[in-house]
Amino acid sequence: MSTIPPLTNTYPSLAGRTVFITGGATGIGAELVAAFAGQQCKVTFVDLQAEAGEATAGATCARFIECDLRDTGKLSGIIAKTGEIDGPVSVLINNAADDTRHDFRTLTEAGWDDRIAVNLRHAFFAIQAVHPQMRKLGHGSIVNFGSMSWYECQGGMTGYTTSKAAIEGMTRGLARDLGADNIRINTLVPGWVMTPKQKALWVGEDVKSEIERGQSLKGELLPQDICAMALFLASDDSRMCTAQSFIVDGGWI
Ligand SMILES: NC(=O)c1ccc[n+]([C@@H]2O[C@H](COP(=O)([O-])OP(=O)(O)OC[C@H]3O[C@@H](n4cnc5c(N)ncnc54)[C@H](O)[C@@H]3O)[C@@H](O)[C@H]2O)c1
Repeated sequence: MSTIPPLTNTYPSLAGRTVFITGGATGIGAELVAAFAGQQCKVTFVDLQAEAGEATAGATCARFIECDLRDTGKLSGIIAKTGEIDGPVSVLINNAADDTRHDFRTLTEAGWDDRIAVNLRHAFFAIQAVHPQMRKLGHGSIVNFGSMSWYECQGGMTGYTTSKAAIEGMTRGLARDLGADNIRINTLVPGWVMTPKQKALWVGEDVKSEIERGQSLKGELLPQDICAMALFLASDDSRMCTAQSFIVDGGWI
């Protein structure tokens, strides 16, 4: 987690709510876990990185359960159990993804299916699993994570960019079905966020110049900037926002 000061806004409507986050062990997900725990939410998160998950749980008092999200049956079972223990899930944050690069010329059918499974399929089945709990509760907020990468025609990861485009379509395609039960669903679209992984893998001097050129605002986009939007979308303050994409990218043009 970064050393930037914690977020300062408090959302009283979030206090005591059951929040479920995917991919919460590292990166933006770990900051989301901390941000929702800081709002006095009961946070459960899943991830396949056990050691990092335990560390994030230890730092935030959230509950960590190891799960590879490609196993959607296991994911649905964990969501059901979370509701039994903490009360119905009222906030679902579909954050997990895997932007491993791949060459479209050599990707196999199995490889394609795997990219869709790690980047899209689990989000749908998590929504299906939380739906009865949110309906029982009488409200809910689902935040799906998109990406600006496909807006920018970024290459080298078609399975990822296709999934991220589809997440926005899935959000709009479900908004009316879920709205009937007072459940909101939105996509949060991050720009290039300076997580430790992004910095280690991709952000050299050349990329820093690209970011400098691309963003209208010249500061670094940080996980906290994404968390600020996620908290708002999860809270009752955004009670009439649904079916939308909310872009937090420093004004990338
Ligand atoms: N960081 C960025 O610049 C950026 C830009 C655009 C969109 N996003 C989106 O924001 C979200 C978070 O991004 P991030 O940079 O923190 O990602 P990340 O890759 O750093 O972290 C993703 C987390 O998901 C977990 N995960 C991946 N596959 C999993 C699986 N099969 N089962 C369980 N857990 C799994 C990882 O272990 C990791 O903890 C993602 O949806 C990503 O697509 C990030």
